[in-house]
Amino acid sequence: MLLPVFNNGVCVFDFDRCDDFMGKKRVDKAIDKLFNLPEVLNHENVPDASGGRALSTAHLHQTHSIPELLNFKNNQLGDWILRRIFESATLLGFNETRDIKRFKYHRTWANRMEKGCEARPHRHASDAWSTPHLVAIYYTQVPELSADLIFIDDDNLELMNGPLLNDYPDCKQHKIESKTGRLVCHDARDLHATNKHLSELPRTCLIIEVGFAPLP
Ligand SMILES: [Fe+2]
Repeated sequence: MLLPVFNNGVCVFDFDRCDDFMGKKRVDKAIDKLFNLPEVLNHENVPDASGGRALSTAHLHQTHSIPELLNFKNNQLGDWILRRIFESATLLGFNETRDIKRFKYHRTWANRMEKGCEARPHRHASDAWSTPHLVAIYYTQVPELSADLIFIDDDNLELMNGPLLNDYPDCKQHKIESKTGRLVCHDARDLHATNKHLSELPRTCLIIEVGFAPLP
């Protein structure tokens, strides 16, 4: 579903088989294995995270591809996510400027945030960047009191990292609730953040950056 968010749209979908799709155990195991890697456990927080511990495999994106590790080509989750990314590409209008049938993953990684953590405002691409075009976020584990995703109305596309979320007035913030099994697809240029994660349990999501080929 396409939701209007300020001057743009954001696509939100919920995977109704998120708790029992075929291959789920393998996916969960692969994600936990990633967060137990010494190179993840011993790596400091990504610069966008503040207030609490945030584990991320972003720095390993070249060697630890999420679609490969989670076997996206051969399980229902991967198939569902790919179809929704394709659908989102049209809903967000990328079909008008790009060949959306040909896309490739840019960076892919997993994030796990712990109590007190929040993601500071950031964009995944500026207007001048050729790629990525779209960012897909799939939430695999969202307990009560989890951080939600917040889109921010700030049209200065040069600004890749904003100040703290609280520096923006409420009228400049649009909340999309995070939820286990939810997929959010947005234009990579959209400024976004999270509010604070208040659960004792971690919140985990996958981030998939996508680039579309030029029109033939
Ligand atoms: Fe992001």
